Amino acid sequence: KKGSLSLSLSLSLSLSLSLSLCVALFKTPAALALNQTQHCKQLEGLVLSQVQLCRSNLELMQSVIQAAREVIKTCRKAFSDMRWNCSSIELAPNFLLDLERGTRESAFVHALSAAAISHTIARACTTGDLPGCSCGPIPGETPGPGYRWGGCADNLNYGLVMGSKFSDAPMKMKKSGSQANKLMHLHNSEVGRQALKASLEMKCKCHGVSGSCSIKTCWRGLQELRDIALDLKNKYLSATKVVHRPMGTRKHLVPKDLDIRPVKETELVYLQSSPDFCMKNEKVGSHGTQDRQCNKTSNGSDSCDLMCCGRGYNPYMDKVVERCHCKYHWCCYVTCKRCERTVERYVCK
Ligand SMILES: *[C@@H]1O[C@H](CO)[C@@H](O)[C@H](O)[C@H]1NC(C)=O
Ligand SMILES: *[C@@H]1O[C@H](CO)[C@@H](O)[C@H](O)[C@H]1NC(C)=O
Ligand SMILES: *[C@@H]1O[C@H](CO)[C@@H](O)[C@H](O)[C@H]1NC(C)=O
Ligand SMILES: *[C@@H]1O[C@H](CO)[C@@H](O)[C@H](O)[C@H]1NC(C)=O
Repeated sequence: KKGSLSLSLSLSLSLSLSLSLCVALFKTPAALALNQTQHCKQLEGLVLSQVQLCRSNLELMQSVIQAAREVIKTCRKAFSDMRWNCSSIELAPNFLLDLERGTRESAFVHALSAAAISHTIARACTTGDLPGCSCGPIPGETPGPGYRWGGCADNLNYGLVMGSKFSDAPMKMKKSGSQANKLMHLHNSEVGRQALKASLEMKCKCHGVSGSCSIKTCWRGLQELRDIALDLKNKYLSATKVVHRPMGTRKHLVPKDLDIRPVKETELVYLQSSPDFCMKNEKVGSHGTQDRQCNKTSNGSDSCDLMCCGRGYNPYMDKVVERCHCKYHWCCYVTCKRCERTVERYVCK
């Protein structure tokens, strides 16, 4: 009896690390006013250190909650053509083993969450929604010909500083999960923030007589989260398997195969291989792809061949409603009819 007690205790300790992902906050009712510190306890899926951060940074919480919603939406979109399609992320904070173990999928989700939190905070500075920050600094270099600095830059620095406090707090707790898992999540969160930094681009607005663009003002703005997610998806596809090994005086994550090179700052790392997600198997957190829609004409990962793992597929007819026979009326509106069309679609056997 004593044995089973200590087993379940250590299990819940190791599980508590993935609760770290603030994504469970997506369930927060939109109407919950977060203007008093005691509201922090009502938020689902925060570890103690995050509740403390909530208390001392109440004004940031709307951004953190919004980030959780964005993570769910963006992850599902980015993986809609894959066997693992991110649907299990909505079980947060009670993840299945696909996200509970140190897998590639959990690497992606940690990176995306870290990027999303910093992204939302940086943007909230720009829109004036946060009392502690405003526009990012004007770039140091002199602007090129044809434009001048202006507008309101996304406050990337503030987003990175405040965002990493939230994202990394659980990994810095003493009693949570294995050291290897913590190092893995910390590394991948940093990769997410690196991808966010790399997404900074120049955005411009034209001025001048009737849009002649004789004067242009430009600022540094972040790309949309869905674009950052696609960047991270590529890193997911080429992620590196690592092991926790002594190097010098401490243990580090080092690539499992061949070389003794250190892990790169831009690569996602994972500790445990994932299943192929073809068949349902709860023991490894796989939903399987039965009844998933596949694309007969694609040769990518959503093709019926790859999606259905060679099991074959069933066709069915689906109705789509479209706007059709559109007419332009002088001046200035368009009227359309609604047309129904049946299309053949396919689901995996
Ligand atoms: C918190 O927000 C609610 C709803 O917006 C409001 O009724 C209440 O007065 C606010 N409390 C404080 C302390 O600002
Ligand atoms: C994602 O996969 C799950 C499990 O296979 C499935 O139930 C769900 O419908 C899929 N979602 C989408 C949007 O395809
Ligand atoms: C299927 O894949 C083809 C080729 O990639 C693409 O043009 C088409 O839009 C896809 N169809 C659906 C229903 O997604
Ligand atoms: C799909 O097929 C086209 C034409 O054969 C090829 O150019 C493209 O690279 C293929 N895409 C993938 C993902 O294999």
